[in-house]
Amino acid sequence: MLKLPGLIDPHVHVRDPGATHKEDWTTATAAALAGGFTLILAMPNTTPPITSAARLDEALEAAYAKARCDYAQFLGAGPHNGGWFFPADLPYRAAGLKMYLDSTYGDLRLDEMTLWEPHFRNWPRDWPLVVHAEKRTLAAALLFAALYERPVHIAHVSRAEEILLIRRAKEKGIPVTCEVTPHHLFLSAEDIPAIAHGHPGRGEVRPRLATPTDVQALWDNLDVIDCFATDHAPHTLEEKDGEDPPPGFPGLETALPLLLTAVSEGRLTLDALVEKMYHNPRRIFRLPEQVQTWIEVDEAARWEIRASEQYTKCNWTPFEGRQVTGRVRCVVLRGREVFRDGEVVAPPGFGYNLRETETYEDPEPLECWL
Ligand code: DOR
Ligand code: ZN
Repeated sequence: MLKLPGLIDPHVHVRDPGATHKEDWTTATAAALAGGFTLILAMPNTTPPITSAARLDEALEAAYAKARCDYAQFLGAGPHNGGWFFPADLPYRAAGLKMYLDSTYGDLRLDEMTLWEPHFRNWPRDWPLVVHAEKRTLAAALLFAALYERPVHIAHVSRAEEILLIRRAKEKGIPVTCEVTPHHLFLSAEDIPAIAHGHPGRGEVRPRLATPTDVQALWDNLDVIDCFATDHAPHTLEEKDGEDPPPGFPGLETALPLLLTAVSEGRLTLDALVEKMYHNPRRIFRLPEQVQTWIEVDEAARWEIRASEQYTKCNWTPFEGRQVTGRVRCVVLRGREVFRDGEVVAPPGFGYNLRETETYEDPEPLECWL
């Protein structure tokens, strides 16, 4: 049995509030624990989007009541909320700021670069800023990072041209970090027919699945990739198979098994996995240590991914039927066993908001544990 730190997923769409038929804080955090994650950072493209203190409070209230693992919640950049001075502590109550600069799901897309400017200028330099930026938009985001002299984290890099540009930017000293999803590492556009089963909407995701050459470029440039992040984006099969299929794949319960399989095949080292799923996300997103927290993994367990065994509410996976090697057996969070052999035992409300660190430093068990 292999013991690893509790993993961190910096990119999760929880859907709560607003679309709890797809997922909610209870099910997303159950899926996280089952996947070996003890801490998730939640994206702000909820309905309505999280673009103000009031909306942040609303999301955090739901999280406080329902989350089974630790978490923090991103704020979203909109066309009118680039002031970020008032209330002064607002940025620090969030995981960071998410800017949608390219085609995505929801209403938070900022096309005009004039709309980017206040966020780059006013969001605190010492606090995480994440951009969804693809292809040439990514080049523009890197220029903004250089011009405003502030770190930028690029979400879900998926193409050769992007990872090469990020390599050059890092070499030039531009303060950029990046993440890659397991679906962009383990699937290409050539897999879409098999994922779709005659329902093309099932293959929709943003960024789109790329070419095999793009996928190879990600593997060839693993040293440039700071984090693995799932971009867990649950939508129901009914929606995926409907008229206007929303883009997105669930990923919390498949990420670690897929990556452990790559380790077993010699394509990835275990040290690199831990660096990209624990140390680097902690550093980039400035997260406190989760005391007495670890996961136990059976490295040799061979098994088949099945949506019917998952905790995510969306009830499907693009990896259905795939054979993987490596299975989470046990998760311990703050000294409590919260997952064991397929069963999530942490109750809703057990999770802490890690942007309220004073609560974290007091690892008193919740009443529901006593
Ligand atoms: O595929 C995606 N789904 N890409 C995004 O940018 C958003 C996400 C979602 O929220 O469903
Ligand atoms: Zn996303």
